[in-house]
Amino acid sequence: MLEEHLGYLADAVRLRRYRAATARAVRLGARIADLGCGSGVLGLLCLRAGAAHAVFVDETDMIEVAREAVARAGLLERASFIRGRSQHIELPRKVDMVVCDHVGNFGLDYGLVELLQDARRRFLRPRGTLLPARLRLRVAAVTSGKCHALAEAWTARRVPPEFQWLRETARNTKHAVGLKPAELSSRAATLCTIDLRREQPAFFSWNAELRIARDGPVHGLGGWFECELAERVWMTNSPLARRPIHRAQVFLPLGAAVRAKAGERIEVNIMARPADSLLAWTVEFAATGQRIRHSTFHGMPLSRNNLAAADPARIPALGREGRARLRVLARCDGKRSAREIEQAVLRERPALFPTAAETRRFVARVLGRNAQE
Ligand SMILES: C[S@@+](CC[C@H](N)C(=O)[O-])C[C@H]1O[C@@H](n2cnc3c(N)ncnc32)[C@H](O)[C@@H]1O
Repeated sequence: MLEEHLGYLADAVRLRRYRAATARAVRLGARIADLGCGSGVLGLLCLRAGAAHAVFVDETDMIEVAREAVARAGLLERASFIRGRSQHIELPRKVDMVVCDHVGNFGLDYGLVELLQDARRRFLRPRGTLLPARLRLRVAAVTSGKCHALAEAWTARRVPPEFQWLRETARNTKHAVGLKPAELSSRAATLCTIDLRREQPAFFSWNAELRIARDGPVHGLGGWFECELAERVWMTNSPLARRPIHRAQVFLPLGAAVRAKAGERIEVNIMARPADSLLAWTVEFAATGQRIRHSTFHGMPLSRNNLAAADPARIPALGREGRARLRVLARCDGKRSAREIEQAVLRERPALFPTAAETRRFVARVLGRNAQE
């Protein structure tokens, strides 16, 4: 977990963009919320830009790293900290600005829309500021043996034959890759521009037209974002940018490579349902009419089970783990100690798990996740 955050902190271009954006957007004396604060670096930038108070929110232990960093910066008296999922918590007061970096690799793939829509409705004062404010998604055709190999990796000779059917899964997967400009075989096209300050639908469908720049195989689509953090302050992971942030782009495979000629037109449709992490891409080659469609729905081996679980007519019954969790939580009454709960569970259900050590670990995990701090 820390390694991921070191990556965000060591990205000098990203920090410069956020510093410029907070300098522009933070009003003196403002109250801000840093949602998904991680190390707390964005909230710290806001405090240094003149915010009077920052609420830091993160659903992981990173909230403690943020607390320590703010303390070391000598700003603790202007900060408060909430551990929890942003969509599950309440803020004590509304804020003038919400800041986050939930832009992922392709704009909508890290929960940006859901996080900001909820924050705009529940946390933000009228006429408050969202940072980021707007998002533009860009796509281009990709010709890259390296990307193609990622999607076809399951058919490599070293993979045992009974696993090679997983190639279909990899072909329906959005891969994070570092694209080089030379791997783009068309000019980039804009797929959409989304104003994050406005109400957004749960489902998106975008079209774009690409022109192939040179004869050769097309292996898939490349995608990246351009994000307007604050007025005229943009941040991008574009492989074509002079100063991109340090973040991978995405590769959406076509499966088998398709040979195309320079000047040939290809029609692209991309559909997204961000709340379910679903992305579908259809590519049609105008010259031949060949049409290829993939979806991350087929890239998730368990998606059919998940779908069954979401059927409202299904009558669910607790499994073994669920019953065990219920047993632990039922004893968590604000009076018993963790040891007493553990002893009670072991006494009443000595065979809850194959070993007492595993039962103890399970009880500790359930209490750690569900008990109040
Ligand atoms: C991409 S990192 C960004 C961290 C930090 N804001 C930065 O810019 O360096 C996202 C962070 O948000 C947290 N997170 C993701 N979704 C969240 C949610 N819905 N509510 C609270 N925290 C969330 C993750 O634990 C992670 O620390």
